Order: sequence, then structure tokens, then C-alpha cells
Amino acid sequence: MANIQSLRGMNDILGDDSELFTYFVENASRIAKNYGFTYIETPILEETALFKRSVGESSDIVNKEMYQFIDKGENDVCLRPEGTAGVVRSFVQNKFDRAGGTYRWYYYGPMFRYERPQKGRLREFHQFGCEVFGVSSVYEDANIIMMIKDILDFFQIGFKLQLNSLGCPTCMPVYRDKLVKYLTNIKEELCEDCNRRIETNPIRVLDCKIENCQKLLYNAPKITNNLCEKCDTDFEKLKEILDFNNIEYEIDTNLVRGLDYYSQTAFEFTSSEIGAQSAIAGGGRYDRLVEFLGGRATPGIGFAIGIERLLELVKIKEEKKDVIYLGALNEEALNTLTQIATKKRDNTKTFMEYTPRGFGKHFKLAEKCGATIVALVGENELNDGTIYTKNIKTQEEKTIKLEDF
Ligand code: HAM
Repeated sequence: MANIQSLRGMNDILGDDSELFTYFVENASRIAKNYGFTYIETPILEETALFKRSVGESSDIVNKEMYQFIDKGENDVCLRPEGTAGVVRSFVQNKFDRAGGTYRWYYYGPMFRYERPQKGRLREFHQFGCEVFGVSSVYEDANIIMMIKDILDFFQIGFKLQLNSLGCPTCMPVYRDKLVKYLTNIKEELCEDCNRRIETNPIRVLDCKIENCQKLLYNAPKITNNLCEKCDTDFEKLKEILDFNNIEYEIDTNLVRGLDYYSQTAFEFTSSEIGAQSAIAGGGRYDRLVEFLGGRATPGIGFAIGIERLLELVKIKEEKKDVIYLGALNEEALNTLTQIATKKRDNTKTFMEYTPRGFGKHFKLAEKCGATIVALVGENELNDGTIYTKNIKTQEEKTIKLEDF
């Protein structure tokens, strides 16, 4: 009988990948905390209706990609395809909308989309995301973009930033009508998907990946030329703040995002180094989503980074830190080593070998754990209250007082 394998598009994270994964999460969390975010964790399984109402019934995510099933209690549930909906549900459920004020939350964890797996596209992938509630100032939009830039800069990742404004309930419907008129005239030449979208969600036509459709869309009306005064002023201000902070961006009027909850600012960070699935982070403003999910109207904005895509690009920046290997040369030394290990683990990764061995064997084992410092205790050291150490990087050997180690 064949051994059981993990499901297609779902990977174990182990070895070097897990080192990178935790290194990323630790440092992205540190940066988020410096921006005033606190950690939130929401369930992986939610009611299907949550995503239908937020991400949108006409989106590919809800339409084609959900891991949806009826549970033993006859509830229609699904594995979360993204993080924002659950966080907004929690915000409303815990009545933060009624309390008022500003909330900044970050999260990371697995997301599930039943897509066709390929390089950079998984069925179970991980996001690091942030959501802000209660701030309508466009400075927050800039803040979010600058924070993503800080994270990418920390990991020395080059990127392109694409920016758009999707308008608001005042200007978007007017623009949508203009767009539908334009699209109806070229309907016959557009692909099948575009034709379906003209009916269900015409803005998504702009996002079509087919070259011929993109050519036909060249002269389509642009949302940025159809914004109301408030949206236009906000968009100009956002560009001004980004310019002031030397953050380069491109305006992409076809950037509509695959989720329906956005209004005004929408953005995507891409990298040309990871193949066709080039989006490493995406997000935007969702000022109506809280209300849509039954809460009191509260502005919101956020983003998510695709951790697997980002890890393809991460170069470990830190100097390799010391790793200590502790070994006993006789049985009696083991107890002393347990005390030393506890002390060193305050700030240094420390391995302890539980079997007393000779020098040569200890050095071989130390090499296997990637130790940079080998520290050994035997009869002489026990009698003198000392410890033998060798620094593998410099090859320096020393026998020092235990309290100095
Ligand atoms: P999203 O653009 O759908 O946005 O996903 C964010 C990121 O997740 C993408 O840029 C990509 O790096 C990664 N990603 C998406 N699908 C896959 C996949 N199948 N395999 C690997 N990585 C993937 C959202 O999910 C929004 N919730 C972001 C947001 C937060 N907007 C406001 N707040």
C-alpha cells in the first residue's frame, strides 16, 4: 500500500524553510508592534456566509476556490480563504465598533484556496496581515504602505508598488455605468470570463489577464478620471505623502483586486523575481465592510503578505549567531551541564548532549548541530570549577572559570 502523502498544493514547513518562516514572522511582528499593532488570532473555520458577504459572491475566491462543506451540525462552513473577513467579524462580534476608537491588529496563519497549484500558488498558504479600524485619514493609508516597505526593506526584497483608487459609493456606481457602456460595445471581442463579469462584476473585467482583452481595454474609461472630489483629493494627498517619503509607485488604473470589499485606496506589491505569481502583498481600504457585516459604520484598511512567496526572496540578514554545544566527558559532569545549559539558554541557542563521550565524538556531534562554540566538562574541570571551550570560527581554545562562561 502506498504511503499517505500531503494533499496537492499543501506543504510541510520544515528544516531551512521553518527557520526562515519563524525568522520572517518574528521580524514582521516586531515591525508591526513598533507601528502600534497587537496580535489577533481568529478561527480557521468560519461560516461560509461570512466570506460570501465580504469577499463577494461574484469573486473567484468565493465562486470557485472555497474549501466549503456542511459540518456534522448541518452548518455551512469553510476554511478561511483570507484573513480580513474573520478579523472584521471578530471586531463586530466583540462590539469594538460600538466602543469607538482606533484598533490596529496583526495576524499570521494558514489560508486555503482551491486553486490550480503551480509555482508560488498553493492551496494552503500563509499570510501575515494587518487590519486597522477607526481611522479614515489618508495618512493611515500611507502608514500601511510604509510599514510594508519597512518589512520588505528589512528582508532586502526589491519590489514594485502599484496603486489605484477604487472610489466610493458616490463615484464608483457612476464610473461602473460608464464602464459597462464601453464594455457592452466591445462585448463580442472580449473573452467568455469578461462577458460573464460584465453582468456580475464589471470592474473585474479590467483585471483580465488575456492579452487581447487588455488591448481592447486600452481606451476604457479610467476610474482615476472619474473620482468624486473627496476621493480625488484623498488620492492626490496619498501620492503626495508617498512622494514626500521617496516611495516609488506606479498608478495602475486596472488594479481592482480579487476581493469585493475595497473602496478608495487599493495597492499591490510585486516582485519580478518569483515568476508568474508575482504579487507578494496586497491590500487597501474597506470603509464599508464593518457595516456590511452588521456593525456600526467604521473605516478600515489593511494588507496581507503571502509568506511563502516572500520567503522565496528572503535573504537571512542577521550575522549568524553563536550556537553552543555542551558535552560531558564523564557521567558526573552531566548534572553541572544541566545548570550551565539553563543559564546559557537565557540568550543563546544551546544544545546539550546527554551521553558522556570522548573529545573527538563530541566535536563530530557539535558540527552536526551547527555549533560555533563547543564547551566540555570532565573530571579535571569538575575539580577546578572550570569549563573547556573551543570557538569553532576562530579555533581559539580556552579553559575558563565556570562563572565566567
Ligand atoms: P490577496 O491579494 O488575496 O489579499 O492575498 C494577499 C497575498 O497572499 C497575495 O499578494 C499573495 O502573496 C498571497 N497569496 C494569495 N493567494 C495565494 C496562493 N494561492 N498561494 C500562495 N500565496 C497566495 C487578501 O487576502 C486580503 N485579505 C488582503 C487585505 C487585508 N486587504 C485588506 N486587509
